[in-house]
Amino acid sequence: MRLFKSSLLTFILSSPLLLINTSIASPTDYHKHDKQQQSLPFLPLPVKIIHEFPRGTWVENLAVRSNGLILANLLSAPEIYQVNPTTGAASLATKIPAATGLLGIAETEKDVYYVVAGNYSVATLTAKAGTFSVWRVDVDTFKPNETLAKVEKVVDLPQAQFLNGATVLSRREGTLLIADSALGGVFRVNTRSKEVKLVIKDPLFGITPASPVELGLNGLSYRGGELFFTNTNQGLLGKILIQPDGTPKAKAEVLSRGVALVDDFAVGGKGGYFVTQDVPNQLSFVPPGGGNASVLVGANDRPGLKGPTSAAIGKGKRKVGRGSLYIGTNGGALNYLSGNFTVGGTISRVDIEKFY
Ligand SMILES: *[C@@H]1O[C@H](CO)[C@@H](O)[C@H](O)[C@H]1NC(C)=O
Ligand SMILES: *[C@@H]1O[C@H](CO)[C@@H](O)[C@H](O)[C@H]1NC(C)=O
Ligand SMILES: *[C@@H]1O[C@H](CO)[C@@H](O)[C@H](O)[C@H]1NC(C)=O
Ligand SMILES: *[C@@H]1O[C@H](CO)[C@@H](O)[C@H](O)[C@H]1NC(C)=O
Repeated sequence: MRLFKSSLLTFILSSPLLLINTSIASPTDYHKHDKQQQSLPFLPLPVKIIHEFPRGTWVENLAVRSNGLILANLLSAPEIYQVNPTTGAASLATKIPAATGLLGIAETEKDVYYVVAGNYSVATLTAKAGTFSVWRVDVDTFKPNETLAKVEKVVDLPQAQFLNGATVLSRREGTLLIADSALGGVFRVNTRSKEVKLVIKDPLFGITPASPVELGLNGLSYRGGELFFTNTNQGLLGKILIQPDGTPKAKAEVLSRGVALVDDFAVGGKGGYFVTQDVPNQLSFVPPGGGNASVLVGANDRPGLKGPTSAAIGKGKRKVGRGSLYIGTNGGALNYLSGNFTVGGTISRVDIEKFY
């Protein structure tokens, strides 16, 4: 399962999809979703690089620990790094054996994370069906530059084609929901009983032939009975009401369309959505409740974001105060096909205070 069909370059060069979401958020747009009439932020928002990894390092997913430190899953190697957002210092937190890269990450209890591992080739942007598994990572056993975090395989998912984003369904029961970008479905994984079940399939999770992007359902975030998601192929952010066991209560609905090549997202304090658009090099904002996306950081901003894959809200009083949004980048997904990179993958910071 490749990320793109071979018509990719024609698509990139000719697609109106990439032109839909290029407007910079204007003061008028912002007022529409700013009921408190705060002063207007400067757009595009500036980007600060916290840590730059070597070229060819694909940062795929982020989680912020309760102590404020960032965990970054790589897709170009089966590794998790811990990065200090204040000093930029990075150290290898752990490695997962027998996989080539990592995708989703979710915390079920303090410092206990579950990560999705699998064989995905960044050189060909191809996932190998049947190679995915879920691992438990005990971050409290990790001492920077001394001891790696203890890891343990939870379960193999031979039925999965391309596992991607993960979110916690129930902390109490230790259950996760994991997106399958090729099947267009969501698996529920019980990390204790190891039961795996495909619980949701929906047309808004799938791949439509209108776009050559062979990657549908991508990021997931569960809160208060609603599962929020992105679909890269359909360029949308949506939500679906679900039962406590993860099965659907209703059909999925669209919150925002025309978000070209959307990757992952984070939900802000007032319920707005910060969505990353990998190939278009953009960070966009969808207002609470949905609506058209506005660009917060665009393709031509300097230093900008090259290949933003993921977003996570900072923790800690100061970070929340200024609305720190951490963004993981891959240095440009298409550069992996040629191996010719201009920058490394990064963890960057965008202060989204006014939109938070
Ligand atoms: C771990 O070691 C690396 C390389 O020597 C260094 O850059 C980094 O700051 C260290 N991390 C911590 C948390 O001490
Ligand atoms: C996945 O890749 C690893 C590392 O190259 C390899 O050892 C393993 O056999 C592969 N797994 C499958 C199921 O192909
Ligand atoms: C966004 O704008 C387009 C027109 O550019 C429109 O078709 C679409 O319905 C709008 N709304 C959402 C929620 O994306
Ligand atoms: C690599 O990228 C640079 C900058 O975009 C370009 O100037 C150069 O020609 C490229 N090299 C190859 C071998 O494609």
